[in-house]
Amino acid sequence: MKYSFKIFRFDPSHDRTPHYRDYEVEADPKDRILDCLNKIRWEQDPSLAFRWSCGHGVCGSDALKINGVCTLACQKLMRDYEGSSFLLEPIPVLPVLKDLVVSMEPFFRVYRSLKPYLINPQEPPTVERIQMPEERKLIEDVIKCISCACCTSSCPVKTTENMNFVGPAALVKAHRYICDSRDTSTIDRLKSLDTKVGVWGCKTYFKCTEVCPRSIKVTKAINQIKRKIRNKSDD
Ligand code: SF4
Ligand code: SF4
Ligand code: FES
Repeated sequence: MKYSFKIFRFDPSHDRTPHYRDYEVEADPKDRILDCLNKIRWEQDPSLAFRWSCGHGVCGSDALKINGVCTLACQKLMRDYEGSSFLLEPIPVLPVLKDLVVSMEPFFRVYRSLKPYLINPQEPPTVERIQMPEERKLIEDVIKCISCACCTSSCPVKTTENMNFVGPAALVKAHRYICDSRDTSTIDRLKSLDTKVGVWGCKTYFKCTEVCPRSIKVTKAINQIKRKIRNKSDD
């Protein structure tokens, strides 16, 4: 079957402004969008830039806006969409480096500022730090995050009302350590998020939860952080 693609193109070394280019691809309804992108690059236009690595929804590098919705190109089949026309654009909010490739640096800068690692000053045990199954359950959902940035790029607050808002992906990572029984920095982590650009920037629009390719309950995790901050101030 023939599919048509309109793809965002921008090469800062040549182009003054972005433009769109049309392609036609022969593909099977069971093919992935990523397969079509590779076909275009291999058979029609080697200058088209896009990222991918694992091809199986694990690395998070091929996040794109497909027909207006941020998702992973390797996780979407042609038959997941009605019709045979596709509009492919880079994920919003992050600066475009070339075509569908964005700079992830602003995303990871925020991410790093929330200390996305275990903090525990106690002497490490000789074996692993033990965690009970019920403690593990508290972080089971959020540890599925692959840092693809689909949620942060889709959040209506991040794009229009408050560009300084840390965004849902960073909050998911913060939740992972706040709720980890082995981490001892909970109070400081909650304090650093208790701001307008921290957890209170979230207006509970649920867009992040809607688009997450790992089906993480992003808004629920954010609300749990809000609740913990409220409970702390009631103490
Ligand atoms: S729930 Fe919060 S973080 Fe998620 S999209 Fe809405 S405002 Fe953004
Ligand atoms: S929460 Fe989901 S959408 Fe957001 S970065 Fe993690 S995997 Fe991607
Ligand atoms: S290529 Fe790795 S998640 Fe799609």
